[in-house]
Order: sequence, then structure tokens, then C-alpha cells
Amino acid sequence: MNIALLGFGTVGRGFYELLTERPLSLNICAVLARRPLEGLNCMVTSDFYKILNEADADIIVEAMGGLEPAHEYICAALRAKKHVVTANKQLMCAYYDELTALTRENGVSLRCTAAAGGGIPWLSSLARAASVDAIISVSGIMNGTSNYILDAMSRRSMDYAAALSDAQRLGYAEADPTADVCGLDTRRKLVLSTNIAYGVSISESDVPCFGIANITAEDMRFFEGNGLACRLIGHAERHFGTISAAVEPMLFGADAGEARVYECGNMMSLCAAHMGRQSFLGAGAGAYPTGSNVLADCRAIAEGCSAFYTDSFTRAQVDNSRAYQRYYIRKQGCAPVITAPLSVEQAHVMCRVEGFNGFMAAIAE
Ligand SMILES: NC(=O)c1ccc[n+]([C@@H]2O[C@H](COP(=O)([O-])OP(=O)(O)OC[C@H]3O[C@@H](n4cnc5c(N)ncnc54)[C@H](OP(=O)(O)O)[C@@H]3O)[C@@H](O)[C@H]2O)c1
Repeated sequence: MNIALLGFGTVGRGFYELLTERPLSLNICAVLARRPLEGLNCMVTSDFYKILNEADADIIVEAMGGLEPAHEYICAALRAKKHVVTANKQLMCAYYDELTALTRENGVSLRCTAAAGGGIPWLSSLARAASVDAIISVSGIMNGTSNYILDAMSRRSMDYAAALSDAQRLGYAEADPTADVCGLDTRRKLVLSTNIAYGVSISESDVPCFGIANITAEDMRFFEGNGLACRLIGHAERHFGTISAAVEPMLFGADAGEARVYECGNMMSLCAAHMGRQSFLGAGAGAYPTGSNVLADCRAIAEGCSAFYTDSFTRAQVDNSRAYQRYYIRKQGCAPVITAPLSVEQAHVMCRVEGFNGFMAAIAE
């Protein structure tokens, strides 16, 4: 099969190198790039429509990121009956309904396994589990940058600012870390996971999100003094036909798998009615881990996988009024409290009020 690659940055280059060094029946026929690239043995152009019309590609791999023009190009590719593979969680969340519908209408495949979990085959394994069992919950550490910061604060006793600047120096955090530390990146991965687990389509904006930007060394000392490890978690559950979903810091006992995910690691888990709990641990980012998941999606398409991970979906509302947990809540200038069980909705409403400026974390039961 012929592949056209859009974008030759971290993921695009990693994917290209992995593909060209292995004897697979996949061939790169074109690369979309805005600057000259030396040594590539295929069409290199900055004109996407030249690729679409002239390159004879079967699969379009989108590794540019952002919403536009990635959205325009993917829609055009699907309409032209090209299969699409993307690592772009932002785009997949924003245009989930449109892209999955276009995929089905045109009888082609759309895969985005690298969009949640980087190198971990999480979405494909989740879809496989959901096709044979009822998924009760999905949850996990879905953002390596925030995990790096929490781990550095815990095991190296750094304060938040020092841990963040260490992550930036090492290239793990962007100059603007908002999407990572405020939980927005985790939320996109959670939305994709929830949609695939339950055959639904939920909106990003319906999922409450509380990140780690307000955590202090004092919070950390409290957690450690109580044998707890703090991790930023995306979680969704099905309760009596409704779906709850939230992104929030969560406290785990030392024997929980999550407590032993260090540095930039990711760990996603599903709990299914008959299979029980399964966890997937690995590198959530990086050129080769992410590129390998993109490559695995191309292989799946070459082997004839179906249109999307789920056959169809229904629009669903998030309802957090029936999911109860205890919380650690520290208001600014006050001693922390451990609450009686609160609904996820109540806890997030309390901590969203203006001037809260403190920290909260759910307590994993
Ligand atoms: N990095 C990771 O580990 C990772 C993990 C999972 C998912 N992802 C996702 O993978 C996607 C790509 O991420 P990345 O880290 O590889 O980003 P990146 O290093 O910034 O690479 C993006 C590349 O796309 C090119 N590009 C952007 N717009 C273009 C356009 N209109 N025409 C041609 N080329 C264009 C950029 O070119 P210029 O150099 O000219 O700007 C750049 O080379 C994103 O959706 C990201 O969320 C990344």
C-alpha cells in the first residue's frame, strides 16, 4: 500500500524512519512539508492537493497537529476514499462526529491509536475489549509531562516550579505547559477512550477538568506522610446507563500500579464485566513509540481492519452526579481536609469557584 505522510516533525520523521527500515509491504509515496527535505526517495511538496490528486496514495498519515489545515486535508482525503491515520487528539476530539461519519460514508478506515497513549496500543486494545465485553470503566495516567512533574516533586522533593522547568529543559513540557498541567491534553485522550469504550460521542467541554498547576510541596508532604502518591488521572465509568467522566489529581496507596508509574510514563486501565481489569503501561510520547503506533495502524488498514474502532455511536451527556469519591481539598491559606464522599460534580463545582486557588485530589478506593 502507498502512504502519503503529512508533516515531517517528531512523529512524522519517527514514523518515516521506522517504516523505511523494515521490510513491510508499505511504501511512502509522498511527504507534505513546508521546507525542503534532503534524501527522501518520494514526492516532497508543500501542496496537499498535488499529493491527493497525483501521488496514488492509499493511506494518508496526518502528523502535522493542530486543527486547520489538518481538518480540511483529512476530510478531503476521506471524501477521495483514502484511508486516514492520525496522531492528532485535538482534531479527533473536535471533529469526532464528522470524521467518523465521513469514514463510514466513504467505506474507508480511520485510525488514531497514537492519539491517546503515544506508543501504547491502548485505543486498539480498548476497542478489541469493547467488541466482546461490557466496559465498566476506563482510567489512567494519560499525560507524561504532568506525571514527570508529580514524580519529581515526590521522589526528588522539587517544588512545582523547579519540576516544571526541569521538564521544559528536557523537552518534556512545552514553553506554554497549560494543556498538560491543566489537564486539557488528558481530557482529549479521555474523551477518545470514553467514546470508543462505550460507542458514544461526548463533548470535551462536558468533562470537568482540574489539573496540577496549584499543587504545592506542602500538599506533597501531606500525601507522602499518609503513604499516598498523587497522579493526574482521566477516568470514566458507566453507572446505570449514564456516563461519568472527569480529569483530576488522584491519590493512590503505594501498592497501586499508578503509584509506580515514574517520570513520563503513561498507564491506562480498563475494567470490563468479564475480563476484569487490564492495564497498559509504556511511553506516552516520543518519535519512535508514537511512530510505531502510527505504523501499526497502517498495518491494520493494510490487513483490512474495519472503518473505525466502533461501528457507530450515540451522542451522550456526561453525568457526574452519581459518581461519589472522597476528596483531599486544601483551600488557599487553610489546612487540608479529607471530605466525606462527594459526587464528582459537587467536588468540581466547589473547586471551580473564583478565588479557590487551592488544590484537590480524589482518593482512589
Ligand atoms: N510528539 C509526540 O510524542 C506525540 C505523541 C502523540 C501524539 N502526537 C501528535 O502528533 C501530531 C504531531 O506532533 P509532533 O510532535 O510530531 O509535532 P511537530 O514536531 O511540531 O511536527 C509537526 C510537523 O508538521 C509540519 N506542519 C505543520 N503544519 C503543516 C502544513 N500546513 N503543511 C506542511 N507541514 C506542516 C511542521 O512543519 P514546520 O516544521 O514547517 O512547522 C512540523 O514539521 C500532533 O497532533 C500531536 O498531538 C505527538
